[in-house]
Amino acid sequence: MSTTDSAPLLQAEELTKIFRSATEDVVVLERLNLEVYEGERVALIGESGTGKTTLLHLLAALDTPTRGELYFKRQKLSDFSLAERAAYRNLQVGFVWQMHYLLPEFTALENVMLPQLIAGTKFEEAETQAKTLLAEVEMDKAWQRRAGELSGGEQQRVALARALANRPALLLADEPTGNLDRRTAGLVMDLLERLHKAHRLTSVVATHNLELAQRASRTLRLENGQLVETVVPRFY
Ligand SMILES: Nc1ncnc2c1ncn2[C@@H]1O[C@H](COP(=O)(O)OP(=O)(O)OP(=O)(O)O)[C@@H](O)[C@H]1O
Ligand SMILES: [Mg+2]
Repeated sequence: MSTTDSAPLLQAEELTKIFRSATEDVVVLERLNLEVYEGERVALIGESGTGKTTLLHLLAALDTPTRGELYFKRQKLSDFSLAERAAYRNLQVGFVWQMHYLLPEFTALENVMLPQLIAGTKFEEAETQAKTLLAEVEMDKAWQRRAGELSGGEQQRVALARALANRPALLLADEPTGNLDRRTAGLVMDLLERLHKAHRLTSVVATHNLELAQRASRTLRLENGQLVETVVPRFY
């Protein structure tokens, strides 16, 4: 499928997500529509509990919608086989979460190599690529250190390198600056911006950080299960 046409890279159509429990149904997303075009940097904002993480999980094919459809390069995610879903998650999408989820006992280098080895990349090639990425996030001096020994900001930089290890088209990030102090958050924001350009990414970033949202090419607010285009005022 061509990616140079004018179709969105990612599209949600009438997306509904309901969490059902014994006592109640929680309708989190309700007939939500979204189009994300190649190269866009979309910020997802909205009060706590409005469904930002839920939406990112659906976009990442980590969860399935109750109703509605998701398309990646015009292909329906619901048509993907289990193997195709796994390939989509490993090859097309890079994730960065508030908690980095690095393997603490493994070195920074090994953490960045691992998704590549899972995808079948040769060891030497994975190692070279991991070192290049760690240099890009300015962690090349620390690639032999165990992830569990790194500071929060350092771990988040390694997590960014890992997210890009398989050269994904799409970067999804959930509160990537959430656990960081203001200065470190600023560094991670700069890095996100640099990597977005250098790797020709399309990014969707959920955040409560208005400065991060303000830097996006487009900001969407999640409210009442739907997305509303919004403008974040410059406040600094
Ligand atoms: N697995 C689940 N089972 C039941 N309810 C869930 C589940 N996951 C999320 N929810 C509910 O869905 C709603 C949206 O949660 P979500 O985590 O997507 O919000 P959020 O916008 O990311 O919030 P925050 O800004 O605090 O991270 C909440 O009411 C939450 O309790
Ligand atoms: Mg969340």
